[in-house]
Amino acid sequence: MHPIGFFDSGIGGLSVLHEALKKLPNEHFLYYADSDYAPYGVRPKSEVRDLLLQALDFLAERDPQAIVVACNTATSAAIEDARRRYAFPVIGMEPAVKPAVAAAGPGKRVLVFATELTLREEKFHHLVARVDTEQQVDYQPLQELVAWAERFEFSDDVILPYLRHKLAAYDLSQYGAVVLGCTHFIFFKSAFEKILPSGVKILDGNLGTVNNLMAKLPRALSAGPRVVEWFISGRAVGEERFLPYLERLNEASGETQS
Ligand code: DGL
Repeated sequence: MHPIGFFDSGIGGLSVLHEALKKLPNEHFLYYADSDYAPYGVRPKSEVRDLLLQALDFLAERDPQAIVVACNTATSAAIEDARRRYAFPVIGMEPAVKPAVAAAGPGKRVLVFATELTLREEKFHHLVARVDTEQQVDYQPLQELVAWAERFEFSDDVILPYLRHKLAAYDLSQYGAVVLGCTHFIFFKSAFEKILPSGVKILDGNLGTVNNLMAKLPRALSAGPRVVEWFISGRAVGEERFLPYLERLNEASGETQS
């Protein structure tokens, strides 16, 4: 069976892979973290495009049946270029603004969190123009969370003051939903829950992305044992770098086994 590739600038895409492993337990996965060049969100679009295509070329040599760009930032910079370049399906991600608008509730606002590049890009502004018919969507970059996630820095002492500071200008009681529009942010969900008023829904695009992937795969899924091969910026590596993150995701979803 051909493998399924997952790409992210770093460890954020593990949150999407984690969903995929639940739904596709017997597939062969490749996970590529471009950690030498993370964070992407502070880079110019052209640089992110070149980095993405270099990484996808590497995965393409392994003859994948599909690749998930589990990175909102890289998707916003270059997903069309990637789709033109390869014959296999390339699944991208974008902030879940539409579901958030639907979930926010009457008269309530939506706040989208993502990287600086994602929020600057045309793709995001077109998306908002399409779905924000009541002018209820605001957005806020939280770029520093990416570097902290890469360093496995999740302590409340660091993260909560940062979030409080970034959100100080918002009257959070006006909001019905927030969007985690960067795959690294999923690792901070419990911190967001501590900061946001109860009842504010926290949405992400991970499950939707895995559903998109499944719709693109052939019907006959693999019966083989699950295999995940790991890569950092073009080098094959062991799973050690990634396991603590998968364990954190397991704990958050109440599972004990990876
Ligand atoms: N995980 C990423 C995203 O979904 C990119 C973060 C970064 O490298 O700045 O946008």
